[in-house]
Amino acid sequence: MQHAAYVFDAYGTLFDVHAAVRKHAAAIGPDGQLLSEIWRAKQLEYSWVRTLMGTYTDFWQLTEQALDYAYSRVPSANKALRTDLLHAYMHLDCYPEVPSVLKSLKMSGAKLAILSNGSPSMLEAAVRSAALDTVLDEVFSVDRVRRFKTDPAVYEMVTSAWRLYPEAVSFQSSNRWDIAGATRAGFRTVWINRADMPDEYPDLPPGLILPSLEALAS
Ligand code: LAC
Repeated sequence: MQHAAYVFDAYGTLFDVHAAVRKHAAAIGPDGQLLSEIWRAKQLEYSWVRTLMGTYTDFWQLTEQALDYAYSRVPSANKALRTDLLHAYMHLDCYPEVPSVLKSLKMSGAKLAILSNGSPSMLEAAVRSAALDTVLDEVFSVDRVRRFKTDPAVYEMVTSAWRLYPEAVSFQSSNRWDIAGATRAGFRTVWINRADMPDEYPDLPPGLILPSLEALAS
């Protein structure tokens, strides 16, 4: 089915959040995967807790704070790599299918955007390193509303900026909780279940479940 607009979550969906640790895996030591998992889990927890409290600290600062916490939980991980890990997070690899899928959707005439918790500078750096700047019409950062996903104001940024009904938007995310928020906001949703995880949020189901973005363009 063709939609007027395709909107993508950034981290975990277009960009591989575990690529930073993987890049330095040998130097980090045996607990790199644990470090990466705690890093990501805490980064997200901080975003939800701050939004519930009504305070805002941008996602880059939360990413730094989460890495520091992950280091304190994983003492075996090599602390000398902190700067390298943060640099790698700024310039994450995109998943291999991303450039061709985005290009093909763009050629079909749809508008394309990112809608992400990421700060504008993080998103700009990631988009530039993955060379996605020419296919994207817009990069929406939560920085504009100073609240993180799943606050409804985040998803409303897209429909008000583009003057679209929510059901004209196909929203893709590999984060099931983000799919719940986008479904609640009225978007058509596609859960990119890269890690083959069980379903959750039964009252807010995705419209479609795909193992990667690949099938979106076919
Ligand atoms: C984002 C987080 C949810 O990009 O991964 O918004």
